[in-house]
Amino acid sequence: MTKKATDSAGTGRFYFGREIAAVTAHAGGAEWMEKRDRDNAELPDRLVANLDLKPTDAVADIGAGTGYLTFRIADEVPYGRVYAVDIQPEMLSAISDIVDSLSVTNVHPVLGSAKSPNLPVNSTNVAVMVASYHEFFYPWEMMHSIFDSLKPGGRLILIEYRGEDETIELSPLHKLTRDQARKEMEAIGFTLKASREILPQQHFLEFQKPFE
Ligand SMILES: C[S@@+](CC[C@H](N)C(=O)[O-])C[C@H]1O[C@@H](n2cnc3c(N)ncnc32)[C@H](O)[C@@H]1O
Repeated sequence: MTKKATDSAGTGRFYFGREIAAVTAHAGGAEWMEKRDRDNAELPDRLVANLDLKPTDAVADIGAGTGYLTFRIADEVPYGRVYAVDIQPEMLSAISDIVDSLSVTNVHPVLGSAKSPNLPVNSTNVAVMVASYHEFFYPWEMMHSIFDSLKPGGRLILIEYRGEDETIELSPLHKLTRDQARKEMEAIGFTLKASREILPQQHFLEFQKPFE
């Protein structure tokens, strides 16, 4: 359903009763993604430690942006790979520059579309979405495609700023409540496996694709 956007962060498009946020553009947004106080405010190393990755895992970082989490994840899967997926070529170009300058061999930039991460079926063990899901313009199509790209029993980690916390100074459209996230993921076929409140501002929700 499309209505008039409620604020400048909105798109006017609604899904399960919430308004989908506008995409964080590379121009302006890239600076936010790399701002130094994120390390203290969001504890990215704790986030990655809790992904519980195996060294051989294939991980999709969907909505990778400038790679703020991508390269931390890559360190955890030395014998696996990270697909860094984004719909903005400028983001992938920023990631490719880091890949080249650091000679990283296990990060693979992938240009996604608004409806699909363009990953092969049954190709990944874990999909990670950090502050990106609320921007998916076609969440139903995207999530079905992500579901298909996961191997049976594969895990989906959803990180979003807590919609329940009014003290977090962000537009409500850039946050998500736990109940809303659960409702939307269960509609796709995922099961909530764990909900870990280990991050200062964000939910850490772990979902799973059934084994069969
Ligand atoms: C707020 S940024 C977060 C980037 C990164 N995860 C981080 O934490 O720094 C959201 C990113 O999601 C991307 N995005 C939005 N919709 C997408 C989609 N359908 N598929 C892939 N990426 C998408 C945007 O282009 C943007 O780079």
